[in-house]
Amino acid sequence: MFKINDNYTKLPGSYLFSTISKKVNTFTTANPGADIIRLGIGDVTLPLAPKVIEALHSAVDEMGTKETFKGYAPDLGYEFLRQAIADNDYKSRGVDIALDEIFISDGAKSDSGNIGDIFSVDNKIAVCDPVYPVYVDTNVMAGRTGVYDSATEKWSNVIYMPCTNDNNFAPELPGETPDIIYLCFPNNPTGSTITKDELQAWVDYALKERAVIIYDAAYEAYISEDNVPHTIYECMGAKECAIEIRSFSKNAGFTGTRLGFTVIPKELKSNDVSLNSLWARRHGTKFNGAPYIIQKAGAAVYTEEGRKQTQEQIDYYMNNAKVIREGLIAAGYSVSGGVNAPYIWLKTPDRMTSWEFFDYLLNEAKVVGTPGSGFGPSGEGYFRLTAFGTYENTLEAIERIKSL
Ligand SMILES: Cc1ncc(COP(=O)(O)O)c(C=O)c1O
Repeated sequence: MFKINDNYTKLPGSYLFSTISKKVNTFTTANPGADIIRLGIGDVTLPLAPKVIEALHSAVDEMGTKETFKGYAPDLGYEFLRQAIADNDYKSRGVDIALDEIFISDGAKSDSGNIGDIFSVDNKIAVCDPVYPVYVDTNVMAGRTGVYDSATEKWSNVIYMPCTNDNNFAPELPGETPDIIYLCFPNNPTGSTITKDELQAWVDYALKERAVIIYDAAYEAYISEDNVPHTIYECMGAKECAIEIRSFSKNAGFTGTRLGFTVIPKELKSNDVSLNSLWARRHGTKFNGAPYIIQKAGAAVYTEEGRKQTQEQIDYYMNNAKVIREGLIAAGYSVSGGVNAPYIWLKTPDRMTSWEFFDYLLNEAKVVGTPGSGFGPSGEGYFRLTAFGTYENTLEAIERIKSL
């Protein structure tokens, strides 16, 4: 008789986005024609850049002739893309990453979820609270998180690192020693970042404790301040303790096109076993490559025109972020994020819970955001707005909030 992976049955239901859509549906049924503005989504809205579209078209044509047709991609991804990544994302920042340390994938969600495959079930993980839920849920599936307490909304075998107003939304080194530390900067959902010196402290800590850092840099392209590191490998010793995960979703609008990559330096070892070779084995066995067409589109992002066009999109979103941030501050809200990230994290007023504020905003301003409590217990009392809407809607939403 077959048996299922029981760990899946331990996962509490993810009610966040379904509850949001139920509440919005109820509201629109009661208020037909209501002009609702959605600033809750973490998905981009601008179309792919012209240079990317051009590359897609030409790669499609290549697939249609015998001479240029491509079948399975190389295990690690095409060299033209890995070279562009090594040069533009790393060498340009003074970091040498070899081509066989870069693994092309279909995105950061898969990589951050799958990376646990190469670690023993005995490892103890540490996560920020609030957090991008994939890190915790995939560890639950692997059986690494212990028992769930629905009262505290915490797992017994997970170290939670609260990120609140009190610590400027930057996690502190945990009292209990973890084996695997998930860090994400710029952060979803709080929009916070840490400085290079602060990240260096994490690297030093990981080296001292023989822990590994899984560094999710999906929002790297949104960094605007000089002292914020673009890659963890800017920190000394990081190649011996850190895996970095990147995405083309938010820098180039590939959320529906799917492309990302993971960097595992060869120096990163557990005793004498290189994590790079374990991931190469895992990648080669369980993944058959991102499509050639998409990898070509990804390479176009690094061309001069591609960089210019995608930067314009980021500037557009970050202008929205500025409108939200400054508008909320003018309206008396306590706000963070929105400077190096497309997320604005606000403290709910008058001690409202995250869901009370959600209802208030929906009913009074017809604006939809995301309750902070949906990202973890320390998100209670906070609320996330995103900069991925149109400029006009963003402006209108903030005017409505200001006039409440
Ligand atoms: C922190 C973080 N990592 C990863 C992802 C997913 O990226 P991708 O689209 O490359 O799977 C997201 C998407 O919202 C995210 O917020």
